Amino acid sequence: NNNTQSKKYDFSAYEPKRENLVAALQDVQDKDGYISEDAVRELSEYFGITRSDIYSVVSFYAQFKFKKPGKHTIKVCKGTACHVRGSGSLLAALEERLGIKEGETTADGLVSLERVACLGACALAPAIVVDEKVYGRVTLAQLQKILEGLK
Ligand code: FES
Repeated sequence: NNNTQSKKYDFSAYEPKRENLVAALQDVQDKDGYISEDAVRELSEYFGITRSDIYSVVSFYAQFKFKKPGKHTIKVCKGTACHVRGSGSLLAALEERLGIKEGETTADGLVSLERVACLGACALAPAIVVDEKVYGRVTLAQLQKILEGLK
């Protein structure tokens, strides 16, 4: 049978032992940006671990995502300093303009919205991160500009 050729992932760098599962998951996430159902199926076959076991491991680690992220990711800081300085209204404005809630991705796949713990930029509160770039003292007007710049 052609099983080997239909596989999308190559886990051969890992001994098929449970202790290597997290490292293999990290590889998938680095490659795809999330853990797809296909990946879970192949991991399950390779490591001999049930899919539901793999799903619980993926859920346990906050860094793993089940859904394909958008082309751009906007992260709003949920730390105290940013909260006090209005990160809540930034998040609300983003949710309204993008038509999604935190943790979701726009239907066109352009933008994902997330909340993150303190970015260590409290002096610049309220801070957001757009595709790894930190923006400080973000105003609603600036937010609008940032959104318009995303293509
Ligand atoms: Fe937002 Fe620290 S609380 S950067």
